Amino acid sequence: MSFENRQQVATCIEDIGSDINQVSQDFYRHLLQDNPALSRIFSGNTAALNRKFFNMLAALKNVKHLEKIEASICQLGERHGQQYAVLNEHFSPVKKALMTALEGYLGDGFTVELRQAWDGVFDEVADLMKTAISRTRHADDGLPSLTGYDGDLLQAIGGEEVVLRIHRRFYDVIFDEPWLGKFFRGKHETTLARKQTEFMVAAFGGENRYRGDTPAFVHMHMLITQEQLEAREAILRDAIREEGLSEEIVERWLRVDRGFWAGLVKTSEEECVLKCFGQYPVVAKKPDAYVPPSVLPSKAGDD
Ligand code: HEM
Ligand code: HEM
Repeated sequence: MSFENRQQVATCIEDIGSDINQVSQDFYRHLLQDNPALSRIFSGNTAALNRKFFNMLAALKNVKHLEKIEASICQLGERHGQQYAVLNEHFSPVKKALMTALEGYLGDGFTVELRQAWDGVFDEVADLMKTAISRTRHADDGLPSLTGYDGDLLQAIGGEEVVLRIHRRFYDVIFDEPWLGKFFRGKHETTLARKQTEFMVAAFGGENRYRGDTPAFVHMHMLITQEQLEAREAILRDAIREEGLSEEIVERWLRVDRGFWAGLVKTSEEECVLKCFGQYPVVAKKPDAYVPPSVLPSKAGDD
């Protein structure tokens, strides 16, 4: 596919904008009517389903420079096989339902040219993902071990306000943390707290207002190690506990968070994927005599 074709698809996705949930519902109607067995993979409530559809389109919007993000798409394929129990033969019904939903939404605007662009872009991404799926061990029982989602959690936490408060506290600490803080130099703390909140609210079963890329893409140029993820988790755990939430909720929150780690974690600079010419991997050197953040006791008094 040419750069122009990919650009056409990206523009089309941008134009769908806030109508995305409408297209999403149409997509699932076609997909699950024709392939009821796929509801084992596409489970969850409307918010969860919309989020998955949104993620798929967000990834397709990102492939303008596919050659540069190939490694990231392969990892995405691996996660589909290993974590979501997706098989290669699932791509064809997904594509068919997507094309039908686009046709329904765009009407005459879905020109022959635009259709061909979608057709080609979907296939080139799907082919990379399928190759990665074939290479990886598939989820054993054929059932997705769905992480990254807990549909009732927002209510249990007490709503979006509480999530935002916790994230503000979290970023306050992390921006000043001697090691992790290095990633955030020059970043806008309030904006990040808002975006992180929108993202997690969707993962906790609330409305999806997050319009950024999926975490795997956002962080693909950053060398984020397991040790850093664990240090970040300690800070997050404290920020949640400070709110006085029960340990059960703390654990559920962190389980959702950990569901995104596989897409972020790297062991060397070589695994970083650069999005554009001139970008360089973001690597934070561990400070000498670094002391990892320690976790304070729970305030909830229930353990
Ligand atoms: C070109 C095709 C596709 C693209 C670009 C795509 C992209 C994505 C992205 C970016 C995510 C977010 C999670 C992550 O980064 O790991 C995701 C999640 C998911 N995808 Fe796909 N996908 C595609 C095809 C499929 C197919 C064919 C299926 C199954 C029939 C599928 C099922 C899922 C499921 C079940 C999840 C999510 C789980 C969750 O968030 O709980 N995807 N997809
Ligand atoms: C040690 C681990 C992590 C580090 C160092 C890190 C660092 C960052 C940085 C520097 C940004 C700002 C990117 C930019 O504006 O260019 C960012 C954004 C973001 N991160 Fe992370 N992150 C980590 C883990 C995670 C995890 C586990 C998640 C998901 C649960 C996550 C979700 C997000 C989201 C949603 C954004 C906002 C993206 C946007 O601008 O739309 N991060 N992260």
